[in-house]
Amino acid sequence: MIFEEKKYSLNGHEVILRSARPEEAAMLLDYLKTVTGETRFLMCEPDEVNYSLEWEEQFVSEHNDSDGDMLILAFLDGEYAGNCSFERMGGSRRRAHHAGIGIALFQRFTGLGLGRLMLNVLIGEMRACGFEQAQLSVYDNNKRARHLYESIGFTECGRIPRASKYDDGTYSDELLMVMEL
Ligand SMILES: CC(C)(COP(=O)(O)OP(=O)(O)OC[C@H]1O[C@@H](n2cnc3c(N)ncnc32)[C@H](O)[C@@H]1OP(=O)(O)O)[C@@H](O)C(=O)NCCC(=O)NCCS
Repeated sequence: MIFEEKKYSLNGHEVILRSARPEEAAMLLDYLKTVTGETRFLMCEPDEVNYSLEWEEQFVSEHNDSDGDMLILAFLDGEYAGNCSFERMGGSRRRAHHAGIGIALFQRFTGLGLGRLMLNVLIGEMRACGFEQAQLSVYDNNKRARHLYESIGFTECGRIPRASKYDDGTYSDELLMVMEL
């Protein structure tokens, strides 16, 4: 699904949200390599981001062309700041009423209220699309993300102990969160 470009004002900053374009695949791969190295809160290590340019272009096109997936990029004062997305769960009618969401910003764009703005827009799009439920997973020690998700209306519904094991031998639990739309 396409999210047509929209402008917002955020504490004196101009924010533009819009769907990704296939020709931005290289920028998106660079972003993924950077954000996975900036925190321990994402799904892999930077050296594991080894998708090809063609794969990433296809990823963008599939989101844009699908009737249940959306990928939204955020630009703050003209600079690419990060993205958020939802993807319909599973391929069967029994699971088609809910979608999983994800979000990650470059560290220098965090703490400005941008994540809240993006999630509110994303959830609005999910409602407009007819989804009944949003799901996500977040690491237990990701206090900022947990606070944001809870304040938006997500509640914890499960915990997978030691879901992530880091290269230094430590672990993080993963919390499953859900929000009725
Ligand atoms: C998680 C993320 C998307 C949040 O976006 P953001 O723009 O930084 O968040 P916002 O500024 O909109 O809101 C953050 C909220 O958390 C609060 N917060 C900040 N640090 C906190 C902490 N250590 N503990 C609790 N709350 C905290 C802020 O006060 C704010 O709440 P408020 O609006 O009620 O005052 C962003 O920080 C990010 O991309 N982080 C790295 C990747 C990541 O963790 N992705 C999520 C994976 S599940």
